[in-house]
Amino acid sequence: SERLRVLSGIQPTAGSFHLGNYLGAVRQWVALQESHDAFYMVVDLHAITVPQDPAELRANTRLATAQLLAAGVDPDRSALFVQSHVAEHAQLAWVMNCLTGFGEASRMTQFKDKSARQGADRTTVGLFTYPVLQVADILLYQAHQVPVGEDQRQHIELTRDIGERFNTRFGDTFTIPEPYILKETAKIYDLQDPTIKMSKSASSPKGLINLLDDPKATAKKVKSAVTDTDTVIRYDPVEKAGVSNLLTIMSVLTETPIADLEKSYEGKMYGALKTDLAEVMVDFVTPFRTRTQEYLDDPETLDKILAKGAEKARVVAAETLAQTYERIGF
Ligand code: ADP
Ligand code: NA
Repeated sequence: SERLRVLSGIQPTAGSFHLGNYLGAVRQWVALQESHDAFYMVVDLHAITVPQDPAELRANTRLATAQLLAAGVDPDRSALFVQSHVAEHAQLAWVMNCLTGFGEASRMTQFKDKSARQGADRTTVGLFTYPVLQVADILLYQAHQVPVGEDQRQHIELTRDIGERFNTRFGDTFTIPEPYILKETAKIYDLQDPTIKMSKSASSPKGLINLLDDPKATAKKVKSAVTDTDTVIRYDPVEKAGVSNLLTIMSVLTETPIADLEKSYEGKMYGALKTDLAEVMVDFVTPFRTRTQEYLDDPETLDKILAKGAEKARVVAAETLAQTYERIGF
């Protein structure tokens, strides 16, 4: 078709998506499925780079799927699937491993951070080659765009490098993708420490908004967000990181330009913004929780959706892998 392709993935983690996942990535997935051929997956192969309990992993995969559906991913428009259901991911990843320099992979900052936190003895080789699996994920679908948060930019760059390398050595095979990173929501910050990104691993419980938490607890976290000693509600990510983060979240969730928000909060105190944002957050997470639970209550439907998604994905994946193998000399 004439439509551009998009591909993205999210890990099946325990608990729920956080606000950074939603605003930085999933929200764009939902928007792009209108205009693009979309492939969205729950990346369970990526998840096993750290130890997983089998029953929990299976439950978390369904939980991630339910949340994607609740967020608005439409399985009739998008291929919504589980990474391990499409064997070509692992197969193409091996090829890409053999095209990636050891030094090149060693420069991936996410790996450096995560392995430093885990220690060498607990760090798997899988975690080291995680970005290369991501290269395969993207190239497999000939994706033009990859909607992700800022923290993934380096991995998309690696994808471009490896894709171009393959094309140069073996002839044009892969579409070279672009990151699709919206400036406003590229990085949502921790509510308690607005100098670090909101993240499952690094944020304190009070700094992290989990979409499936009790809405009252979420409202409380918003109201106790760290700001600064000034009082002016102005967007200035350098000098006023906390307030700017709140304005960003408010702006996206209410679809109101930041300049309009600044105007409407002129002469008001931080408390006014926090109270309003707490209400907006509660209005957002309450139906999200209900919808997620509805999908979780119907695992048969979830599994049917995922089976259909894998079927759609396999058609494209098989074609790309066959062509790749042929070019390599297999
Ligand atoms: P996490 O980073 O919490 O471990 P994932 O790695 O599964 O979660 O990320 C899923 C998607 O969410 C990725 O596209 C990632 O870039 C995006 N993302 C994660 N945290 C943030 C954040 N704080 N701001 C914006 N996007 C984010
Ligand atoms: Na991430």
